[in-house]
Amino acid sequence: MDQSFFVKTYGCQMNQYDSEKIDELLVHNGFKKAKNLEVSDVAILNTCHIREKASEKFYSDLGRLSIFKKNKEKLGEKMQIVVMGCVAQAEGQEVIKRNKLVDYVVGPQNIQTIPKLLKIKSKAAIHTDFLCEQKFSSFPKSYLEGTSRQITIQEGCDKFCSFCVVPYTRGNEYSRSVEQIYAEAKNLVKNGALEINLLGQNVSSYKSYIFDKSKKKLVDLSKLCNILSSLPELKRIRYITSHPSDINDELILEHKNNKKLMPFLHLPVQSGSNKILKKMNRKHSKENYIDLIKKIKCEVTNMAFSSDFIVGYPGETDDDFQETLDLIDKIGFASSYSFKYSPRPGTPASLIKDRIDDSILDKRLNKIQSTLNEQQKNFNETSLGKEVDVLFTNLGKKNNQYVGRTPFLQPVHVFSSSNLVGKILKIKIERLTSFSFHGRILDS
Ligand code: SAH
Ligand code: SF4
Ligand code: F3S
Repeated sequence: MDQSFFVKTYGCQMNQYDSEKIDELLVHNGFKKAKNLEVSDVAILNTCHIREKASEKFYSDLGRLSIFKKNKEKLGEKMQIVVMGCVAQAEGQEVIKRNKLVDYVVGPQNIQTIPKLLKIKSKAAIHTDFLCEQKFSSFPKSYLEGTSRQITIQEGCDKFCSFCVVPYTRGNEYSRSVEQIYAEAKNLVKNGALEINLLGQNVSSYKSYIFDKSKKKLVDLSKLCNILSSLPELKRIRYITSHPSDINDELILEHKNNKKLMPFLHLPVQSGSNKILKKMNRKHSKENYIDLIKKIKCEVTNMAFSSDFIVGYPGETDDDFQETLDLIDKIGFASSYSFKYSPRPGTPASLIKDRIDDSILDKRLNKIQSTLNEQQKNFNETSLGKEVDVLFTNLGKKNNQYVGRTPFLQPVHVFSSSNLVGKILKIKIERLTSFSFHGRILDS
């Protein structure tokens, strides 16, 4: 009988992409999907190491899962547990030391080996080489259908921010070839995608080459977006995440000239204090960031911005934190994420003794989140009463309800008796409840 599998995903969109790929790869190899982890023959946990909370969540799920495995074994049934992703890469052998019922530990650049490992039933093994090239050439053509899809265009990161594990868990920066990305995008569009989100931890430093009339030409992110926009059925292109020191003029111009490139930029700043930015090894100052945003807004007037913030980096004083609040005030973000600093094993920042008290971390997080929520509300309110283009991607929770996104990624709920999924429609925005809109289709 075919073996069944289930993948649970933690962490970022790059992990979501990898999970999708593993799903397709296993189906391609004759495995079938199970309803959940507990009933599967092969339970796969695709893990995240970015903050302590993320990796502890995985370990507690793993604890629960291994009880299921033990019970199954008592009944003479088998379960294989695969731990893949960033915790697998960072902790390797440690994962098996902490839980002996794990069968395989597979880093993010090794996931293509999973079907083979399962078939030959090799014993508990750690697979943590960085094999980006093999990874991407091993995936079968995607069969999944969907209106909004994603493509990893780049792996790894060479920035080495002092707090961050990504350069260690995903390895050096690696950009996929233009041909490979284009072929993948073409197939997604064939399967119904109207929107593609280009993924990487640092997509603004994407770099590849094409041969044009036997001349070698550099393709950066702006050029890649330009090439992809030639697919007629593709209506929206997004990318995430960019780094403030890598945004070039060409990318800004592409936003200005290419209507398929959405006017929404996630541009993490982390802190508004130059002292802290320097300690974080962020390679940009507060002024660089503000000037960049001004420059972009000057060229692309409707561009909206979101960001990531870390509060309580070691040595952050009240004044440093105030500088972050001032920066937020100055920019006005459409939405943002903020996190308490979490010391991560193996990172330079984790060695700094000067830790901030938990109670101060909580206070600062509360303050920054209420400020950012207020800004998000203000930004959303500017759309009330307006007509906006909405790409519908999902069914809503209620009968005849559909959910879509505006160009600025705001969710919109609309009732309709006909199916809206896969359509881009002009919607009149009538109401705002917490962070999502309610609207109606305009009579055409
Ligand atoms: N490549 C992106 C995102 C990296 S991870 C960038 O350059 O910004 C996503 C976010 O997690 C980061 O932007 C940062 O805000 C947060 N993060 C990363 N490491 C962290 C840590 N050790 N503690 C708290 N937040 C962290
Ligand atoms: Fe981490 Fe910095 Fe790289 Fe982003 S740019 S992934 S925060 S090291
Ligand atoms: Fe987490 Fe790895 Fe993504 S650490 S945020 S899953 S790159």
